[in-house]
Amino acid sequence: MRVVSGIQPTGNLHLGNYLGAIRNWVRMQDGMGDGEQCLFFLADLHAISMPHDPAELKKGTLEMAAALVACGIDPSRSVLFNQAQVPQHAELQWLLGGTARMGWLNRMTQWKDKAGKNREGQSVALFTYPVLQAADVLLYQATHVPVGEDQKQHLELARDIAQKFNNDFASEDAPVFTLPDPIVPPQAARIMSLRNGAAKMSKSDPSDMSRINLSDDADEVMKKVKKAKTDPEPLPSEEKGLEDRPEALNLVTIYAALTDGNVEGVLKDFGGEGFGKFKPVLGELLVETLRPISARFIELLEDREALDAILARGASQAREIAVPTLAKTYEALGLVRG
Ligand code: TRP
Repeated sequence: MRVVSGIQPTGNLHLGNYLGAIRNWVRMQDGMGDGEQCLFFLADLHAISMPHDPAELKKGTLEMAAALVACGIDPSRSVLFNQAQVPQHAELQWLLGGTARMGWLNRMTQWKDKAGKNREGQSVALFTYPVLQAADVLLYQATHVPVGEDQKQHLELARDIAQKFNNDFASEDAPVFTLPDPIVPPQAARIMSLRNGAAKMSKSDPSDMSRINLSDDADEVMKKVKKAKTDPEPLPSEEKGLEDRPEALNLVTIYAALTDGNVEGVLKDFGGEGFGKFKPVLGELLVETLRPISARFIELLEDREALDAILARGASQAREIAVPTLAKTYEALGLVRG
């Protein structure tokens, strides 16, 4: 089993990132047995497919690396790196460009959503983004790729590319690429804004009160939870009582995720209670969960040397795993390399 996954290096990490993707990665890492391995990377090459600010990208990459380590990705057990330090990603992407079809890329819903009506004005990188994503996982012979629901289509494309390449350029008993399976964690929590239960918690929300940042201190966390938008009703004792109460559901969801329980269980304990009682309990729980994470996060951000060393070491491990597959790919295509 080889697990490979990437995350775009946005800055301002928040509770939604943690309970959504990052915690799930940590659990996969912790569940690895002998001979199994996780590779996690910052998709900084993907980030240039949209207009971006170089200084922000650099800062975001370092912040994301610090956040991953602070949340429990252990660089001595998992391979942690950024794509830009492993040139084999870009190389393989080019080589796969002969196999990927325009029609396949044209069908990607993320491309359609991001490009909207202005396809002509988009970068070439936004269109070929899924080919780079395929290279990201095929380069390491990934067997499993943990992703959110929105990335499943890109993984299916990676499988299609791998299959066509194997078919066109390899013999049946010696395929060049492993077909990766996406794993969409069933319990990945969808955390919503604290100000609007219909919007995802997001780093781009103009109101800082809408999210809990991994760098918030205990007072800020408590204040944000206490000021979170709710309604005047007490909590119901059953899940269906939350149907039209997205803000209440969100707070209960956060509590359930933090305690590894479910909404029903939380309502069993808190049904009938008002938010005056529930919010301080939730706030305490958040403070306790985030305290060690934010301490480590801030410590790492201030130790640039340690962070650089972690990424350099991860990149060198990644390159080592990548080289044989890349060599096979050149060979299969008939490219002469001395
Ligand atoms: N496109 C993914 C996202 O936006 C990030 C990503 C890049 C990725 N390469 C990947 C995820 C490879 C899994 C595997 O979330």
